[in-house]
Amino acid sequence: SQFQTIIVEQHGAVTLIRLNRPDALNALNSQVLADLIEAFAAYEADASQGCAVLTGSEKAFAAGADIKEMSNRGFSEMFGENYFGGFDRVVATRKPWIAAVAGFALGGGCELAMMADFIIAADTAKFGQPEVKLGVAPGMGGSQRLTRAVGKAKAMDMCISGRMMDVHEAERAGLVSRIVPAATLVEDAIKAAAEIAAYPPLATIANKEMVNAAFETGLSAGLLFERRLFNGLCATADKREGMVAFVEKRKGAWSGK
Ligand code: HXC
Repeated sequence: SQFQTIIVEQHGAVTLIRLNRPDALNALNSQVLADLIEAFAAYEADASQGCAVLTGSEKAFAAGADIKEMSNRGFSEMFGENYFGGFDRVVATRKPWIAAVAGFALGGGCELAMMADFIIAADTAKFGQPEVKLGVAPGMGGSQRLTRAVGKAKAMDMCISGRMMDVHEAERAGLVSRIVPAATLVEDAIKAAAEIAAYPPLATIANKEMVNAAFETGLSAGLLFERRLFNGLCATADKREGMVAFVEKRKGAWSGK
């Protein structure tokens, strides 16, 4: 593969991206970021691919940003190079993607999982924002996305105590959408992704934009955005096909238009 720190495979219409730094529990460094930016851009550009899955290993989704890489960088270096600001490009992916989490998702690993459209977690998954123990704090979304996902009480607890949530607490709190057995995590995530990939792609992107808008707008602006996007989808060929296929009791054949 052209990548040093990840492995990318296509399973039908699903792109599987696996973090692959086993010696460092998939810690995220500059090379991982560069590889992820390239892999997500390739996924986005490939019309044969309808959903992506990002996963790690059995032991760790990712145990955080690479502490060895960060240890000698001061404010000027971090600020000057906008360290990990490039993850904004991964977040900007318009097509859907799922994080499939087993084992540790800590610090930047938890933050990367929260960039996904949703998280499917193995019963072994553990989430945490332990940065405080290193004298820092979340730096790629943890204080904001975790708080929006689970509310202040748990987010503040996680950030200032540095404790981990097991998968059941994470699911109850709203961080995780589905729990599956560790043994079938990747298979189950690919199955879920294949279902998503089988739906009309413009509708999927619109659904994503609407839900994401709920984090950025007030209610009436969000509702108006939703209604207008709904109206707009009614101009697509796949809307017509979807409704006609339903009435004719057959499967839709999507054109992506
Ligand atoms: C670099 C890491 C690492 C990390 C683990 N390793 N986490 N290397 N950065 N974040 C390395 C270890 O140094 C070790 O390498 C190997 O992976 C195995 O880890 P162990 O600690 O021996 O495993 P274990 O005892 O099972 O403990 C697992 C663990 C622990 C609980 C997950 O590794 C841990 O606490 N890791 C750090 C978690 C953390 O603090 N993450 C937040 C980082 S800050 P060697 O070579 O010794 O075998 C962050 C900020 C993001 O993410 C914002 C950026 C802008």
